[in-house]
Amino acid sequence: MKTILVTGGAGYIGSHTVLQLLEQDYAVVVLDNLVNASAESLRRVETITGKSVTFVQGDIRDTAVLDDIFSEHSVFAVIHFAGLKAVGESVEKPLSYYENNVYGTLTLCKAMQKHNVKNIVFSSSATVYGDPVSLPLREDMATGEPTNPYGMSKLMVEHMLSDLYVSDNEWNIVLLRYFNPVGAHESGQIGEDPNGIPNNLMPYISQVATGKLQQLSVFGDDYDTEDGTGVRDYIHVVDLANGHLKALDRLMLNMGLDKYNLGTGQGYSVLEMVKAFEKASGKTLPYKIAPRRSGDIAACYADPTKAATELNWHAEKGLDDMCADTWHWQSQNPAGYPKD
Ligand code: NAD
Ligand code: UD1
Repeated sequence: MKTILVTGGAGYIGSHTVLQLLEQDYAVVVLDNLVNASAESLRRVETITGKSVTFVQGDIRDTAVLDDIFSEHSVFAVIHFAGLKAVGESVEKPLSYYENNVYGTLTLCKAMQKHNVKNIVFSSSATVYGDPVSLPLREDMATGEPTNPYGMSKLMVEHMLSDLYVSDNEWNIVLLRYFNPVGAHESGQIGEDPNGIPNNLMPYISQVATGKLQQLSVFGDDYDTEDGTGVRDYIHVVDLANGHLKALDRLMLNMGLDKYNLGTGQGYSVLEMVKAFEKASGKTLPYKIAPRRSGDIAACYADPTKAATELNWHAEKGLDDMCADTWHWQSQNPAGYPKD
């Protein structure tokens, strides 16, 4: 049984990935400081799977904690989710973002190197492409200039890991560029639980549907898209989590460094998302057209061919599943996880 260290494993994407790892008989150690998560997510994963997780509450910037984990467990690979992800906050607190996301990853990689664990899957983002020159986005296209410190921190880590691989090609590194993760596990027991008022579209819409928020502001209806609203490639979190298991299979082949888009290849506009969510929830969603949000781009969607060919991965769930599963989670857990 291989052991996987999952940093940030109590979070949204991490918890869904831990669930699938357990289902596939991996042993899982989670390192999470709970800055944006609740340990309840892992308790629920244990209930759903009937299997247990080793949970260490600690920080990826803490060398002593990392040394303990790597000494105690024979870790085959690290799936590295831990980091901060709020774009607006990253503009206000850039140093926190560089410290958590860049220095945190550096500290993790140094500990991995010391303990001779050289397999890592990293959570990158489509934000590294910047404002797309053409669509769909392919991995061989140049990365762009992210418009905020969060995006820049992802690009910096991609560069750091690439340099690490050049220096020592015993490393196996998979960079996964997520498009827009949405949805929840079909049980409705785990899902996205943002702090405060959500920034992202899907959690905002679902809180309008429960009545927690009054109305959605649609940020701009004058983009060069079919209905004028922003177009994104929404991907079900269960499909996304499955991409990480496929990435582990790739690591086992000792292929060096690879990067993959994890998206469906299909873009939907904000208004299409509103309509689909109304259908799934049976609620009418009040919205108003508001000015564009600074830093937003008109459209962004993946060419997922490389992941299909090399990882044998493709998204299986469509828009109806994404909305139905989000609603299932949100309506059963309108206040998110109970606070510890
Ligand atoms: P999340 O906030 O739910 O999960 C991140 C987890 O990391 C949280 O549980 C948090 O408590 C933990 N964490 C943060 N800093 C830490 C530190 N210094 N030490 C230990 N634990 C720490 O976010 P998510 O949506 O699950 O995202 C997971 C990863 O995927 C992040 O790196 C994020 O940047 C990346 N990503 C997310 C999206 C998205 O839209 N959700 C898109 C692209 C990339
Ligand atoms: C945002 C981040 C991106 C990050 C991603 C994580 C910005 C500029 N970009 O991407 O770096 O990787 O989240 O998922 O913040 N929208 C509304 N009203 C809302 C919220 C969103 O109309 O209340 C629109 C947006 O203008 C956009 C679409 O919905 O067209 C999706 O927005 P969002 O969910 O925030 O994701 P991104 O902007 O793609």
